[in-house]
Amino acid sequence: MLVVDLGCGIGRLSKALIERSGCLVLGIDLSQDMRGFAPAYVGSPNFSVVSPEVFARMVDGGLRADAAISVWVLQHCLDPAADIDRLARGLAPGGRLLAVNNVNRAVPTVEKRWGDDGIDVRTALAARLDPCQEGGLDPAGVGQLLSIGAFWGLYAARA
Ligand SMILES: C[S@@+](CC[C@H](N)C(=O)[O-])C[C@H]1O[C@@H](n2cnc3c(N)ncnc32)[C@H](O)[C@@H]1O
Repeated sequence: MLVVDLGCGIGRLSKALIERSGCLVLGIDLSQDMRGFAPAYVGSPNFSVVSPEVFARMVDGGLRADAAISVWVLQHCLDPAADIDRLARGLAPGGRLLAVNNVNRAVPTVEKRWGDDGIDVRTALAARLDPCQEGGLDPAGVGQLLSIGAFWGLYAARA
């Protein structure tokens, strides 16, 4: 199975996925630093990482992943609808995306603070993919504050 990890960062979840299931993971990250660190951190031939630009070209060329994850990423993306659209096009029909995200946006600003531009990521996800299941995070695992301010959602790619 090929899983796309959108916004893989250092590869925290890619590594766990590979260790638990032996899947292949294609990480995508905006940050050149993260794209540099991740292969060494994950340390597996089942992992590789590309920029969003290269991923877009791969999708245009026919790449279709079996599943995707995106954890603590879409809240930060400048244009989440575009990222979601690219990801949806890169999934095989019926392929699932598991997203974990803040309810509110946290976009980096030149003033170095996080801004909320009012975009509703949940709505953007449901506009492009079929929602399957949604829930909150367990306060025992993430603390009370995050459990209130975040959600997980499972979505399926349309045929
Ligand atoms: C908070 S980290 C989460 C990393 C990882 N998913 C995890 O849970 O450990 C967010 C990551 O998303 C990346 N990112 C932000 N916007 C992105 C975008 N539009 N496309 C791909 N990656 C993006 C950042 O560079 C960063 O590595």
